[in-house]
Amino acid sequence: MDINSIARPEIVAMKPYQSARNSAAADGILLNANEAPFSLVDDPDWQRLCLNRYPSPQPVLLRSRLAEIYAVDESNLLLTRGSDEGIDLLTRVFCRPYKDAIIECTPCFGMYRIAATIQAAQVIDVPRQAKNGFQIDFLKLQRAIEAQPYVRLVFLTSPNNPSGDLISRVQLEAVLKVCEGKALVVMDEAYIEFCTATSASELINQWPQLVVLRTLSKAWAAAGVRCGAVIADAAVIELLQRVIAPYPLAATTVDAALLAISGDAISRQQQFMEMVRQGKTAMVEFLSKQEWVREIWQGEANFILLRVADAVDVVNWCADNGIQIRDFSSQPQLEGCVRLTIGSTDELHALRLALQAYGERA
Ligand SMILES: Cc1ncc(COP(=O)(O)O)c(C=O)c1O
Repeated sequence: MDINSIARPEIVAMKPYQSARNSAAADGILLNANEAPFSLVDDPDWQRLCLNRYPSPQPVLLRSRLAEIYAVDESNLLLTRGSDEGIDLLTRVFCRPYKDAIIECTPCFGMYRIAATIQAAQVIDVPRQAKNGFQIDFLKLQRAIEAQPYVRLVFLTSPNNPSGDLISRVQLEAVLKVCEGKALVVMDEAYIEFCTATSASELINQWPQLVVLRTLSKAWAAAGVRCGAVIADAAVIELLQRVIAPYPLAATTVDAALLAISGDAISRQQQFMEMVRQGKTAMVEFLSKQEWVREIWQGEANFILLRVADAVDVVNWCADNGIQIRDFSSQPQLEGCVRLTIGSTDELHALRLALQAYGERA
């Protein structure tokens, strides 16, 4: 499949910007980027990170460490400011304004629609089936892709946010087949580490139209670092690189990201996953005994979606007790729904106490 044939022609034709760090060596005497020769801050971290200099556009060590963790080739990985930037870049590269479309399957992560709207791309919704654990209706999805010649991106999320359900390999490959020659399938795997499913990135050599999004924000406990990765065919990566800002990752981000995926963090990650599993099981057990809870979707990620008698009331009650949970009740199919993140044991204890009191009050 020729990826360039579905990308915006302006992006394919454009001669990409060559930054100082891209077009010359980054050592020796650097007089090619109008930087200051030293920093004005007397701080060891500023000196160590050379914050007076522009950072590497795609830092080699971080890129290779993440490629190793995700078991892909470095040429198939682009470092981004979180998955949010990956979504934005894909939309800008592949959707012609007022012409092309994306497909999303709601309820899902809200940024697909936002990125498309900013790009003036059409948003086609193939709603998930609430009655069926919010599974995607794959027959309807296939028909929607076939019916619309200008679909360029199909966003799939596994585990999905906010319902937590997974997309199987068979389902993914069926969508990839339908998209052959016309669209990219974006598998957003922001939460995949929380479940036992394997990443779709092992399929990228087989399917050039497959894009996988990964992030350090969730299971790597580093949302504040703002680091994610787009994993795709090298031709897709090359196109995204034309559009990404010249220096997307601050030196401080790179430093923090390397720490976030260091050996120490890797050994703690298993404990964290176990804490989430246990916390979720206990919370589901507690919630299932509350008479104001109508439905629970425990899903495969670090959150629980539930339908309650009065979502706004529960959210406000929690807020009054200093606990923020997320109100989804105004979204289609999510009437009465709230989502709560599995926090620490102490945080969940506080939440249980607040919800217990809520039940007794109601
Ligand atoms: C499904 C999904 N994708 C992407 C993101 C964005 O993650 P990042 O912090 O990597 O930008 C989120 C954030 O909540 C998410 O839920």
